[in-house]
Amino acid sequence: GLSIASLLKTTGAVTYDPGFMNTANTKSAITYIDGDEGILRYRGYPIEQLAEHSNFLEVSYLLIYGELPTEGQLADFDRVTRRHTLLHEELKNFFSGFPRDAHPMPVLSSAVSALSTYYPDSLDPFNPDHVERSTYRLLAKLPTIAAYAYKKSVGQPMLYPDNSLSLAENLLRGCFGVPAEPYEVDPDVSKALDTLLILHADHEQNCSTSTVRMVGSAQANLFASVSAGVNALYGPAHGGANEAVLKMLREIQAGDVSPETFMEKVKNKEDGVRLMGFGHRVYKNYDPRARIVKGLADDLLAKLGGDDELFDIAQRLEAKALEDDYFVERKLYPNVDFYTGLIYKALGFPEKMFTVLFALGRLPGWIAQWREMLTDRGTKIGRPRQVYTGEGLRNYPA
Ligand code: ACO
Repeated sequence: GLSIASLLKTTGAVTYDPGFMNTANTKSAITYIDGDEGILRYRGYPIEQLAEHSNFLEVSYLLIYGELPTEGQLADFDRVTRRHTLLHEELKNFFSGFPRDAHPMPVLSSAVSALSTYYPDSLDPFNPDHVERSTYRLLAKLPTIAAYAYKKSVGQPMLYPDNSLSLAENLLRGCFGVPAEPYEVDPDVSKALDTLLILHADHEQNCSTSTVRMVGSAQANLFASVSAGVNALYGPAHGGANEAVLKMLREIQAGDVSPETFMEKVKNKEDGVRLMGFGHRVYKNYDPRARIVKGLADDLLAKLGGDDELFDIAQRLEAKALEDDYFVERKLYPNVDFYTGLIYKALGFPEKMFTVLFALGRLPGWIAQWREMLTDRGTKIGRPRQVYTGEGLRNYPA
């Protein structure tokens, strides 16, 4: 009468798989990746088609609810997410407590975590009304939090969101608008930002998403779970890579080291230097998002006049890597982050904000995965085993 899980537990057998190289932690119907073929689909729809024809709001709906919305459903979703952009007024005080040069990622995760204190009617993961409320509150408020974190870092007054604007438009206005002047959103800029958000919207069981699921498996509420995901994304091996890429390009530019010499350093593993923005745990062919991002960078830098020198260095690094045995043998290709930093920079964002923009994009994926986990797994808590390597029994000296 025992379940399979209970039977396995009684044998004491465990699988040792550090870094979860081959262990699936869950079943999921949200995102499909074929790393060998370079395929990425959300709910069955290819990323290329969504990037070209859809928008971030619609993609968020698709990821969270499983189907593309009808016109009416999308209008309702739009209305409800626009209506909840304001932050609780007291939450504003929270921002003044951080040092002026605070990195916006920990500000973001702290503020998301703090939402639990303001919205007690959103916290029960098993109450569908609570889950809906926390879903649209997070989607609506994260861009406001991000804009406030930015304003704080540049010492300018925070702007209340303008609910006549879309999410991407509001984010741009919230960051770059000032109260004394009207702010005109450049449609090319908001379209590019919207496309980047789509490309980041989900990526199955990556580090931050697995974190969101793990925390949520303890029945922690959505705000607490997403806050943990933001912290995971902060790491330079994950979302922090877009910032690290630009730092690397700048160092090459400033240090008079040619891309070719830098590549030698990477290949010799000098000081553990890696080519940031290259390599991926799953993609061993090409990251399909990187292809779209490169096209976008081409168009946008021509239009907005980005940093040609840095773009040139990036392209030279890529060209060099694609023909180099070190990279070919290890199947290392540009990932989504290789060119995104250059675009964010051309859009006017400072490096510190790059990972924040990634977090805004990844939010619908985190929400969708958290919701799926709760419905699929019920109350089963995530709890890996270990292979113990410590001392055997020792007696405390009496
Ligand atoms: N530059 C140079 N060598 C690399 C790189 C790189 N960017 N990435 C991997 N390698 C080498 C490793 O040194 C290793 O070589 P070895 O077999 O001689 O020891 C081999 O390729 C395999 O690398 P692993 O670290 O085992 O691969 P893993 O799947 O664990 O790591 C990761 C994937 C973390 C993305 C890695 O490629 C990396 O550090 N890339 C740079 C950081 C980055 O761009 N991160 C963004 C990831 S995508 C995202 O979050 C959106």
